[in-house]
Amino acid sequence: MKKLFLVGNWKSHKTVQEAHSFMIAFLNSSFIEWLHTNEESNDKSKRIIICPPFLLLPELARMLEHRDAKIPLDLGTQDISPFPAGSHTGEVAASEIVGLAKYAILGHSERRKEFGETDELISQKATAARKSGLEPIVCVQGKNTPIPEDVKIVAYEPIDAIGSGHPDNPDHAEDIAAFLKEKKHIPYVLYGGSVTAENVAVYTSKPHIDGVLVGGASLDPSSFAEIIQRA
Ligand code: PGA
Repeated sequence: MKKLFLVGNWKSHKTVQEAHSFMIAFLNSSFIEWLHTNEESNDKSKRIIICPPFLLLPELARMLEHRDAKIPLDLGTQDISPFPAGSHTGEVAASEIVGLAKYAILGHSERRKEFGETDELISQKATAARKSGLEPIVCVQGKNTPIPEDVKIVAYEPIDAIGSGHPDNPDHAEDIAAFLKEKKHIPYVLYGGSVTAENVAVYTSKPHIDGVLVGGASLDPSSFAEIIQRA
């Protein structure tokens, strides 16, 4: 059974209190409870990764510390500084979040568009993440987006599909995933853009798609749990 990465990107949403309530509801949802109690679960291949704003990481990490290790749930960031810790006002260095998160989403199209992030900057961020032991999840917008060296997880996210309610054609997404795996030797390719509980299985059942990156539908605990269950 292939490994599936089910990544929730909260973007700039939720207060500490809201994040706390989400996690209580999520960990108590029937699917997560089932995953937790069923040791023989076929769903051992599923890796759940929640990527909240930086501010929420300590609270969520604290809540997860006490969970049963059987729940395959980790935290990630939505960005990381290209610099090491030091005099870089407003930045969060990878070394500062190690211990709180394991993954870092890099190069999301919103960061490229709203903050002018370039492929070169994204490559520097990938290096900084890896140096501190964080696993980068690099977002690409098509076959031609450059991918930094040694990146193991890539999310194909066509811009028009993000937050629009118009996901990419699953066969097209599969075609891109196959290209990235075969021609660019990326071990894991995820699809992102308007993924919901209703459409997730169409993507995750494709042979070259190893999971999904979910924005809007990851904000609600029951909808995210249903996506994980149906993936
Ligand atoms: P969406 O966002 O699921 O709300 O379309 C996906 C993303 O931007 O990662």
